Amino acid sequence: MFARITGVGSYLPGQPVSNDDLVLRGVDTSDEWIATRTGIRARHLAESGRTSSDLALEASRRALSMAGIDASGIDLIIVATSTPDFIFPSTACLLQGKLGNRGATAFDVQAVCSGFVYALTIAEKFIRSGSHHRALVVGAEVFSRILDWRDRGTCVLFGDGAGAVVLEADERPGILATALHADGAHHGILSVPGNVCGGQVTGDPFLRMDGQAVFKFAVRVLAEVAHECCDAAGVPPTGVDWLIPHQANIRIIEATARKMGLEMERVIVTVDRHGNTSAASVPLALDTAVRDGRIQRGQKIMLEGVGGGFTWGAVLLEF
Ligand code: ACO
Repeated sequence: MFARITGVGSYLPGQPVSNDDLVLRGVDTSDEWIATRTGIRARHLAESGRTSSDLALEASRRALSMAGIDASGIDLIIVATSTPDFIFPSTACLLQGKLGNRGATAFDVQAVCSGFVYALTIAEKFIRSGSHHRALVVGAEVFSRILDWRDRGTCVLFGDGAGAVVLEADERPGILATALHADGAHHGILSVPGNVCGGQVTGDPFLRMDGQAVFKFAVRVLAEVAHECCDAAGVPPTGVDWLIPHQANIRIIEATARKMGLEMERVIVTVDRHGNTSAASVPLALDTAVRDGRIQRGQKIMLEGVGGGFTWGAVLLEF
């Protein structure tokens, strides 16, 4: 028995906000600086009051519609997010309520930009164990809420959005191999080191990053975990039809493709239009390429995440 993706969906809030728009909003930067170093040209920012569960709901409805099933048919809901609506209840439970599903297992996964790859791997294990049959797996973020808009080194990099897949038990091949890793020794190079205590924010509530350390770490582990997953499935890296790496920075994406021996024509890139949407980035890119016809049934797809923690992982699947 395999776990196979039967529906994909995504959602981006509002209109694109270009690099020049950020300059007009008062960020001390330029389109040239951002585009040259990161490949980012635009991102979407959620309207005031719209939450991760709101974006997740739109993406989920689209994925359920493609799968041709009603929300009541889902028995597992996992939401990957680092920007939950509340401390609790989980964003997955809030999404469940908005979808009108009752009784499914529902919980959040916190692995920052690797969150979707973690969540998909967990869902696959539930399905292969036989305990669950139809999972809704979502990455949803409103990173704009945890950015320090006075810190030009980070605020230009991120955006908001959501992506979702329906994963069902199937005798046809689906997920072929997975690999998840973390190394908490590197927690300090990318973090939001704050919390709420006694009604006050303690520590720092904004995203902080050592950009160059993150860059080096990401390039190394994305290539390593891609090879690990290919080895586990007995598929050579060049046998991957489409690589969908976490969309943080075009130079990280290009370096990963190079180390896998893949031409950029076989890499899905959305970082230019979406920025870094953390846990939403991989399902957003997957949905984009399925709906524009590049990804076809039967093709081999490598999904990869890397993010705060530090966490990283990959999923190799036959679509
Ligand atoms: N606009 C204009 N100038 C800027 C900006 C900006 N937005 N941000 C920083 N600068 C300036 C700095 O002030 C500095 O100026 P100085 O030399 O006068 O002091 C100069 O540009 C260089 O700053 P660095 O931080 O050293 O820039 P660097 O070349 O390292 O690029 C970047 C920064 C793009 C963040 C790079 O380190 C990177 O891509 N890192 C990867 C991090 C990443 O992608 N993180 C995403 C989250 S992590 C993840 O998802 C896995």
